[in-house]
Amino acid sequence: MRTAVPLELAYRLLNHGPTTLISTAHGDRRNVMAAAWVMPLDFDPPKLAAVIAADTYTRELLSASGECVVMAPTSEQLELSYAVGSCCGREIDKFARYAIATEPASIVRAPLVRGCAAWLECRVLPEPALAERYDLFVLEVLAAFAEDRLWSGKEWRFEASGPRTIHHSKGGVFFATGERLAVPRS
Ligand SMILES: Cc1cc2nc3c(=O)[nH]c(=O)nc-3n(C[C@H](O)[C@H](O)[C@H](O)COP(=O)(O)O)c2cc1C
Repeated sequence: MRTAVPLELAYRLLNHGPTTLISTAHGDRRNVMAAAWVMPLDFDPPKLAAVIAADTYTRELLSASGECVVMAPTSEQLELSYAVGSCCGREIDKFARYAIATEPASIVRAPLVRGCAAWLECRVLPEPALAERYDLFVLEVLAAFAEDRLWSGKEWRFEASGPRTIHHSKGGVFFATGERLAVPRS
């Protein structure tokens, strides 16, 4: 089940560097793509930095709507994550092609993909020079949620044999988030 994460803790959903999915919607069009180059940028109000290439359909819908949802898929969505990062939504409806179940978001029009570990509803903070020069977008997080089976005590708690978030290494090769290592407190 989705549980709300306080905005000041939203950075923790992506602080360990998972590959993300980004959904967008504008008018009657919607789309989803994979994005590995996404990172927290600020605590409160929480912001993200995301590289979204100029030729993507996602970029077109993001620029038109000013909104998106950034999600952290799990190891159970490995093939799906790679698939939506390997084709363009201008040519196909990825939601139909890959039978992607969605739910409405709480604030933005872009959909939530079911089965993810985290969902961050975002709006674009206009930075046209960064977008043009580096394909870099600054996103403000408006609402944040985590899958409660994976998130407790205000942090990720992945079971050894359960689903984990994923990290892209190279074409089609990922790592799953590993062991939790905590520095002993003195
Ligand atoms: C694992 C993975 C990570 C990716 N990371 C990014 C990224 O950070 N930024 C980006 O612009 N494209 C990235 N891509 C490529 C886009 O997902 C790809 O161009 C996609 O087809 C764009 O879809 P669209 O045209 O429907 O928006 C990634 C692809 C994969 C498979």
